[in-house]
Amino acid sequence: MRRLLVTGGAGFIGSNFVHHVIQHTDDHVTVLDKLTYAGNRASLDGLPADRLTFVQGDIIDAKLVDRLTADADAVVHYAAESHNDNSLHDPRPFLDTNIIGTFTLLESARKHSTRFHHISTDEVYGDLELDDPARFTEQTPYNPSSPYSSTKAGSDLLVRAWVRSFGVRATISNCSNNYGPYQHVEKFIPRQITNVLRGIRPKLYGKGENVRDWIHADDHSSAVLTILDKGEIGETYLIGADGEKDNKTVVELILHLSGQRVDGYDHVTDRAGHDLRYAIDSTKLRTDLGWTPTYQDFEAGLAATIDWYRANEAWWAPAKDGVEAFYAAKGQ
Ligand code: NAD
Ligand code: DAU
Repeated sequence: MRRLLVTGGAGFIGSNFVHHVIQHTDDHVTVLDKLTYAGNRASLDGLPADRLTFVQGDIIDAKLVDRLTADADAVVHYAAESHNDNSLHDPRPFLDTNIIGTFTLLESARKHSTRFHHISTDEVYGDLELDDPARFTEQTPYNPSSPYSSTKAGSDLLVRAWVRSFGVRATISNCSNNYGPYQHVEKFIPRQITNVLRGIRPKLYGKGENVRDWIHADDHSSAVLTILDKGEIGETYLIGADGEKDNKTVVELILHLSGQRVDGYDHVTDRAGHDLRYAIDSTKLRTDLGWTPTYQDFEAGLAATIDWYRANEAWWAPAKDGVEAFYAAKGQ
């Protein structure tokens, strides 16, 4: 039995990972989560108490991080400020958590010689043209656009430096856009699903031509476990499931699957500096480590996600009005 310390385990992808680990391994998980507006303890409800310890706290708290890392065989680091629109409104928390928080964890992993896996994003590579056949690879130069993605890029570089300078046993993964259960209603897919459930028209930034490369959160989890088990120290792995779709297509699919007219949405003010297209080439992960995604059918995965939000209104409803007020104030 391995002892995993999972930071940000009450957030969207972190909680999906905790569910995945408890279902597919006999590892014990300790979650360290600050429970910011994005964290929700209820996302871990129903998991067996003897497999999960929950600690509410900040990854910037060096004493707490030191105590928890001392008791862990590996740290899987998901905790972050994660939303681009928030980073355009108030960047400071992104520097504190994504940069200083990652630094704090790395120092602790260094002290205790603890295996460390850092969760990052394809956004560190900037964006691609819509008509460019290229996809991101591990060799693509960093070129982040937003306060969010620049702090994630900074955190990746800290990890690389701690591997080279101090011999920390770390790996990094950069994943594309996730969808699935437990995603906060501020994000694109849950915002539109819950808009439709509330009788509000979905909101598409600009023309809706921007492309994202969608992967189910459970496939992200299986990829991270694979890297934790078989990844080579010091290496970076890109995670993606060949799921490129433009935003307009996704909104129309949500409306179609919800039994609504597919043109029943509004175009709203575009995001400042809005990245055009992300696309992942995950050949290295598939070839070197033998990983493959399970959720190959985006429409079926989206339909299951809509069902989840329909069945779990008590989970998302408390955040919905505040999120819509935030967007409305910006004409979005
Ligand atoms: P999220 O916003 O849903 O969850 C973040 C979690 O971290 C929350 O539970 C929050 O309470 C916690 N947290 C924030 N600051 C903290 C701090 N200082 N100390 C302790 N806990 C703190 O984010 P997400 O979408 O689940 O993303 C998780 C990770 O995956 C992030 O590192 C993000 O960059 C990365 N990522 C996300 C996506 C995506 O599509 N959402 C894709 C690729 C990579
Ligand atoms: O690529 C990985 C990244 O994916 C992660 O690193 C981030 O943490 C995660 O939030 C996500 O970033 P995006 O900015 O791509 O995701 P978001 O859900 O905010 O938006 C997806 C697309 O939808 C983007 O092109 C903006 C657009 N959008 C978003 C919202 C909230 C809309 O058209 N309407 C909306 O209401």
